[in-house]
Amino acid sequence: MHITILNGPNLNLLGTRQPEVYGATTLADIEHMCQRKAQALGLEIEFNQTNHEGVLIDQIHAARSESDGLIINAGAYTHTSVALMDAVASVSLPTVEVHLSNIHARESFRHTSFLSPVALGLICGFGATGYVMALDGIWAHLTAADSPRP
Ligand code: DQA
Repeated sequence: MHITILNGPNLNLLGTRQPEVYGATTLADIEHMCQRKAQALGLEIEFNQTNHEGVLIDQIHAARSESDGLIINAGAYTHTSVALMDAVASVSLPTVEVHLSNIHARESFRHTSFLSPVALGLICGFGATGYVMALDGIWAHLTAADSPRP
């Protein structure tokens, strides 16, 4: 099984970007954590980051033919982009929305997510670990497994 993991704007700056909110873990560290978890679960992953909305949409479209599931942290586009919501809805892939921070405990403009209504589930507030949790969740969904995971 193949999972596409997409990261949106400003997430390339993780590690130095507002560490009091997002932690000290870099995006490269998160990719490494995901690779390790994917290996344990027997999943292949592709891990991408872009600062451009249209590129994210192209990557979601590409996942339609390449992947069995999608994990996405769309950054601020989460709160603004109907186009991203439409893209996720169009590809009909099980999609887990991830945020490092708890968006519901922050400014009110972050409480709205255009992705949540078209996502299988949402993980937020657990920092980098949220990506690993998302892999567990999507694996369980795809294999319909309730048993303990590696
Ligand atoms: C974020 C939360 C968003 O509100 C913010 O714009 C981000 C990061 C998170 O991972 O907590 O860029 O998606």
